[in-house]
Amino acid sequence: MNLYAFELGRKKELCLAELLSVLGEKNLLEKNMDTAIFKLKESQEKNIQSLQDSLGGTIKIVKIFKTAQKNQIKDIVKEYLEENFKDRTGKINFSLTILNQKFPDKILIKNLLISSKKILKELGLNSRFVNQNFGNTKPSTIYKARVIEKGVDINIIYSDKTIYIGNTVAIQDIDSYSLRDFNRPKRDALVGMLPPKLAQVMINLAVPEAKDKTTIYDPFCGTGVIPMEGLLLGYDVIGSDIDQRMVEYTTENCDWLIKNFRPKNSPSFRIFKNDAKFLTKNLLPENITAIVTEGYLGPALTKYPLEEEQEKIFRELSNLHLNWLKQVHELTNKNLRIVMCLTGFKKNTSITHFPRFKELATFAGYKIEDTYSYDREDQIVIRDIVILTKI
Ligand SMILES: C[S@@+](CC[C@H](N)C(=O)[O-])C[C@H]1O[C@@H](n2cnc3c(N)ncnc32)[C@H](O)[C@@H]1O
Repeated sequence: MNLYAFELGRKKELCLAELLSVLGEKNLLEKNMDTAIFKLKESQEKNIQSLQDSLGGTIKIVKIFKTAQKNQIKDIVKEYLEENFKDRTGKINFSLTILNQKFPDKILIKNLLISSKKILKELGLNSRFVNQNFGNTKPSTIYKARVIEKGVDINIIYSDKTIYIGNTVAIQDIDSYSLRDFNRPKRDALVGMLPPKLAQVMINLAVPEAKDKTTIYDPFCGTGVIPMEGLLLGYDVIGSDIDQRMVEYTTENCDWLIKNFRPKNSPSFRIFKNDAKFLTKNLLPENITAIVTEGYLGPALTKYPLEEEQEKIFRELSNLHLNWLKQVHELTNKNLRIVMCLTGFKKNTSITHFPRFKELATFAGYKIEDTYSYDREDQIVIRDIVILTKI
């Protein structure tokens, strides 16, 4: 079993939770500032890019080939390059990344880049450094310069116990995410701004250690980002929305996804019009594994709402959430997991979270397993991601 470091995305706790859900807690070796180190099964190692493509919260995956003390790093990198590049031809794109250091050690990067260029030269290879000004290379630069295919991205990963050295073996496919986000046939700026990466994280939190027969349901599907990402992961999906236009948008987007991405397991989808407060067994006959939904977040806002407006929005949303959660409780089996978003409001660094949701959830028959905040700098309305199970 080899060790792999997963570089965590912006919301570290949420990204780690996704990994724990997909890979299992028992396989976690350690967690540091930027990375989580896991043991992987052979089947996962074999399909490492498809594992990466299923993880919205992981920036890249690094295969660890050695642990070291600081004074051994240079020799280990030399050994790695000599061993792995002796039979290579053509120009090599080369980059270095230091992880888990708040201010990456520029002197170390500079020394390693210079010595590595020399080693590659001795092997008869011209190389291009992707790093700029001896800082870390941005993952998007590694992706665009196709460093994994055309050379190597070496990672020096600091941890409390040791220094891990590894090479990047998979990286977030930014073009594919942006295609699904910006080039799907139907978008609606007022309704659907859920990033596909976040939809993936939410689905992974709802389906621990991915089961084969999985059906997920989004009762507020909007333009269909969650159904689309569910299909891409190979799950059957059901979606509904109160607005017929959204039903049509999601249907068209899901058709597009299947045609263009050909997901594994040939998953199916069904989308229908419905007010989530009035769900019946006739409308939802399937055995649902998980409910994953952004939910309704309240009216679109252009400025920070006054306290009375916030209270009004929270009151209306409480009524909606209580009703649909109760309906779902009656119609699903006891192992159901729900991952949903709760509205919050953000002003500068202060966040007002959804009030009294714990009481509401308990009253509807659920326990809150975890909550993660997902806010962005420029947003007034933020999402808290909540995981619920049935009591
Ligand atoms: C924030 S949007 C969801 C966006 C979605 N995640 C997407 O990918 O586009 C909320 C959606 O909830 C729907 N909605 C609002 N109230 C509803 C209700 N009572 N029942 C069902 N859908 C509702 C709206 O029509 C809207 O499409």
